[in-house]
Amino acid sequence: MPELAVAVFATDNDQRAVLQVLVDGTSVARTVCSNPTLPLAANDPVIRKTQAFAPDVILVDIASDGVTSALRAVELLHQELPDTAMFVVGPMTQPQLIISAMRAGVREYIERPTTTTDLLEAFVRLTATRRKPGRETSRGKVFTVVNAKGGSGGTTVAVNLALALQSLHHSTALIDLAPLGHCALHLNLKPTFTLSDAVTNLHRLDASLLDSFMVRHDHGLQLLAGAVTPTVIEPSASDFARLFDTMVGLFHYIVVDASSRLDSATRLVCNLSEKILLVAHADVASLWGAGRVAQYLGESGGSRERFALVLNRYRKVAGFNEAETEAAIGAPVLWRIPNQYFAVSTAIDRGVPLMHQGTTEIARSISGLAEYLTKDDLELKRTAWSLFKTV
Ligand SMILES: Nc1ncnc2c1ncn2[C@@H]1O[C@H](COP(=O)(O)OP(=O)(O)OP(=O)(O)O)[C@@H](O)[C@H]1O
Ligand SMILES: [Mg+2]
Repeated sequence: MPELAVAVFATDNDQRAVLQVLVDGTSVARTVCSNPTLPLAANDPVIRKTQAFAPDVILVDIASDGVTSALRAVELLHQELPDTAMFVVGPMTQPQLIISAMRAGVREYIERPTTTTDLLEAFVRLTATRRKPGRETSRGKVFTVVNAKGGSGGTTVAVNLALALQSLHHSTALIDLAPLGHCALHLNLKPTFTLSDAVTNLHRLDASLLDSFMVRHDHGLQLLAGAVTPTVIEPSASDFARLFDTMVGLFHYIVVDASSRLDSATRLVCNLSEKILLVAHADVASLWGAGRVAQYLGESGGSRERFALVLNRYRKVAGFNEAETEAAIGAPVLWRIPNQYFAVSTAIDRGVPLMHQGTTEIARSISGLAEYLTKDDLELKRTAWSLFKTV
């Protein structure tokens, strides 16, 4: 018996009929309502009508001549039916559209024209995630760490931030995007596969295949390791969009170590990120770099407010004016990480990360950063816990 109820939205009559046949053809889902109009506002009657069917999935067709209205509809439907999984069928040739759809709350972006097999795979992924206890349908948050200048400490921040998030919230992944990946070394892991294996197998990438490409650190952090030879892999922007689409469906938090990689891949990942942490030192060359990097990464759209400075190896320097720096770079100083060369270098040398070395000032600082970045989620958890206690 079909277990998923699907609401279809397509303005084109033929496409709507085709989608209905394809959905019903999967035999794990059935169309419960089929709408020729897209909602224009939150109080649109079509939203109330859809809510009455309590669908598990909303499937929106993105026609090439109606991209803006389809995206607006996705946003509204996601906002008004937050527990329903949003799927769209759209062109794969426009990375920016895929990103916008994901940011609007889309869980599965399926190539148009689609097939019963594509839909079936997407439905199966959804039911598999739902069956796993503790995994909600909400999408994970991506934090990307980028260096203002080579060697500023991007990997140190990314690795330890990921560990801190894992210990606070679990369900955290670290993706090593650097041209030559050092994350595995910092974590003393020996990965069999790397990011490029995931990218070259995108056509069949599902939760279990992705899981087999990742390597697990103690306490559960999952690493998708980086390149081990300094070859530049050139996946297309839509490849990365697909990879991240799968990742955000599986993990609550994803930390990306871009280190000193400044190319279209980093730019795309930054576009998908909740925050972009620019790791800099409090010196002129590093801060100049931070400004240039933020400008480059922000060029392809997305709000500049997501950029923030993390001052690594921080110590008070006479004449350093934080307000002027923030104004010049156009990003606030979010965090200051102390300079502790001995602790950091022995952590890397021994492969025992700072977060697992007892309390040091720097480990406390990075835990604080993880708490700060997820303060709203922590607040939600506390509220849930206190409600639970009063019952
Ligand atoms: N807070 C800190 N205090 C002292 N030393 C630090 C700190 N953070 C990083 N370092 C030192 O800086 C060096 C570079 O660190 P890391 O590998 O994290 O940099 P990176 O920015 O990722 O480099 P790359 O540009 O090669 O990717 C390391 O040898 C480490 O010992
Ligand atoms: Mg690095």
